[in-house]
Amino acid sequence: MIDSYGRRINYLRISVTDLCNLRCRYCMPEKGIKKINYENILRLEEIVTISQEFVALGVDKIRITGGEPLVRKNILKLVEDTAKLKGLKELAMTTNGTLLREYAADLKNAGLNRINISLDTLNPMKYRHITKGGRLKDVLAGIEKAKAAGLLPLKLNVVLIKGFNDNEIEDFIKLTQHEEIDVRFIELMPIGEVRHWSLNKYLSNNIILEKSKELISVKNEDTASPAQYFKLPDGKGRVGLINPISCKFCSKCNRIRLTADGKLKNCLHSNEEIDLRNALRNEEDIKKIIINLVNNKPKEHKLEQGDYIDRNMIAIGG
Ligand code: 5AD
Ligand code: SF4
Repeated sequence: MIDSYGRRINYLRISVTDLCNLRCRYCMPEKGIKKINYENILRLEEIVTISQEFVALGVDKIRITGGEPLVRKNILKLVEDTAKLKGLKELAMTTNGTLLREYAADLKNAGLNRINISLDTLNPMKYRHITKGGRLKDVLAGIEKAKAAGLLPLKLNVVLIKGFNDNEIEDFIKLTQHEEIDVRFIELMPIGEVRHWSLNKYLSNNIILEKSKELISVKNEDTASPAQYFKLPDGKGRVGLINPISCKFCSKCNRIRLTADGKLKNCLHSNEEIDLRNALRNEEDIKKIIINLVNNKPKEHKLEQGDYIDRNMIAIGG
């Protein structure tokens, strides 16, 4: 599918649940979120049906997100059924990694290709603070299991937060020296109810290049990827910078999002949502709705004009 600005749309991100076993401060509002009613959450078969329509229309990459996708019941069955879709080239997942120790091998066997793990600090106390109770050692054990299972290349997503993890930039970069992992720094985005919290703690990713003068720019084979990549001299892995704010990448955006309650979003930063769940349950023409959504994909976000969305990140999945 090609949108009205000539972008090829081939990537679907599916949030399979709005629930999470952590409470990251930039993602989940202080007072928690209102859970989506069970009957409004897409059933696994519905997710597979929708994915099938997208793949038939030319989507060849799907990422499963949350909340935390591994807390969704029967997630392995969903991975298995999605992996079987003819025409799909890549099935990936973004997880906080806390349950990966148990799931990594089964996910690989079910057909998952790759995994991104969100990890904002390498210090157990700070991890407990930012996630409000998470245990770093669970994530580290999960990372080892993911590597052992061959869910590669492994990517770590680090949201850069002023006064919290800017003193760990070098430590994160060092992880790429001897191991084939990508560490990707993501600029904190003002989204949902925590946007005001985020605005004070935003740091431009430029700081990474200022702190680490050794990084060498490398070409990114994946031309639709929002990350700019760098390497340490002789480094095995890569350091990625994802700069949605300081350097927006809307012009090469290739993605559409499906929320856990079955809403389609053609831009992360737009409040516009199309209710695909009702359409599906009313047996409407799903393909037509998808094509329409792609045709209406906006040119770019307007974050710099203070145009922030209301839906919380936990209910979108990144
Ligand atoms: N800004 C940037 N990244 C965010 N994430 C969640 N909320 C935000 C935000 N406000 C990240 C998570 C995870 C991915 C799903 O999105 O850390 O890596
Ligand atoms: Fe959960 Fe990820 Fe949000 Fe943290 S950022 S609360 S791990 S969904």
